[in-house]
Amino acid sequence: MRITVIGCGYLGAVHAACMAELGHDVIGIDIDDAKIAGLAAARPPFYEPGLPELLERALAGGRLRFSTDMADAAGSAVHFIAVGTPQRARENAADLRFVDAAIESLIPWLRDGDLIAGKSTVPVGTARRLAERVGLSETGATLAWNPEFLREGLAIEDTLHPDRLVFGLPDGDHERELDLLEQVYAGALDDGTPLVVTDYETAELVKVSANAFLATKISFINAMAEVCEVVGADVTQLADAIGYDARIGRRFLNAGLGFGGGCLPKDIRAFMARAGELGADQALTFLREVDRINMRRRERAVDLARETLGGSLLGRRIAVLGLAFKPDSDDVRDSPALNVAAQLSLQGAAVICHDPRAVPNARRRFPELTYTESLDEALADVDAVMVLTEWQEYRDLDPALTAAQVATSNIVDGRNCLDPEVWRAAGWRYRALGRRRAEALATALA
Ligand code: UGA
Repeated sequence: MRITVIGCGYLGAVHAACMAELGHDVIGIDIDDAKIAGLAAARPPFYEPGLPELLERALAGGRLRFSTDMADAAGSAVHFIAVGTPQRARENAADLRFVDAAIESLIPWLRDGDLIAGKSTVPVGTARRLAERVGLSETGATLAWNPEFLREGLAIEDTLHPDRLVFGLPDGDHERELDLLEQVYAGALDDGTPLVVTDYETAELVKVSANAFLATKISFINAMAEVCEVVGADVTQLADAIGYDARIGRRFLNAGLGFGGGCLPKDIRAFMARAGELGADQALTFLREVDRINMRRRERAVDLARETLGGSLLGRRIAVLGLAFKPDSDDVRDSPALNVAAQLSLQGAAVICHDPRAVPNARRRFPELTYTESLDEALADVDAVMVLTEWQEYRDLDPALTAAQVATSNIVDGRNCLDPEVWRAAGWRYRALGRRRAEALATALA
């Protein structure tokens, strides 16, 4: 099938490469010349494991091309819209200008029977508005909403083998739209992937409510972490214990610095803003608390660093390990780790930042911080180490060898990814979010 993917950011680039992998003939379109030139040379502008190889294979096989010219969309049966919907400046609502612009520039190239399939995360009501616009164009094209649930770092697996497919289709007869989407996803459907066929509004809401639920789950466990800190309990054991209940489940119950990235924070805010516009704001006021709990964790991490260093950060040398919003990513959008690094620096600490992948992006965002690509250099002679993104290489650090590199063996585990007993046994003063202090532990055991 001939497929267009409009918008070649994280979502679009991965989607285009995966559609080609499935055997479709794909054209990826974006207005950014540099992005298109990079993708055409199998060099994505972000780090996603396996993507360069997938692009290379598809480009070499002739099943994938990239272009900045919307005219190249002409002749495709399905046109995916995968442009960004960022948070508006100084507002919670989503900025839909890229979605609107993509539709407007696509309309002149549509043919009778073409299907536009929206993948971008949009406020509920957007698909119906866009469908009306496409109807007015009298091109004979129609619109479906087909939200995407990929996780960064696992984007290819999530696209090729999704947990579920959701098709939001026009009211009334939609056999043609359903048939086209079933052809696009024939492989996944043959593998037994669950399919939900529904209306536009439900499809749009599935996406934002899934992200709202995940954010709530993380903030729930981080709220428990706050209580654990007060009473000297251990949130990690608590998560294990409640997670054994299959109704609760252990996944997404990792307490620590909380959620960041280009999706969860902006999506819950846009969802609240949209509910407000619809007069249903009360239904989502709990998300404000979810957001607050999440942001408080960052402040708590800074406080923990200060406490660990005896009450003041001024002039103290701190190694910040991790800048990406999560491991296996170079993405620093709304990254809790980078936010904490910047706060520590603002409060007078001499911060040296390390990350296996995210240093270039972090440097662009906060040029005033000090960065290094060498873990040894980051650790040399510091007064405290803070692990803020749980990269495997930090989990694998040897406490005894690391102790020989630093000035003082203080460690703050912002992601509950290290074994406290092992680090304490090697002479470290170990502190973590939601876990009892060693002193409290000693008292509890006495
Ligand atoms: C998220 C969703 O998981 C995807 O399903 C969705 O498609 C995507 O947003 C999107 O809307 O495009 P992603 O942003 O890649 O995916 O990252 P997640 O793996 O969800 O992690 C989000 C944040 O939560 C990270 O900062 C991570 O460190 C944090 N997190 C995750 C925790 O603090 N604790 C956990 O237990 C899990």
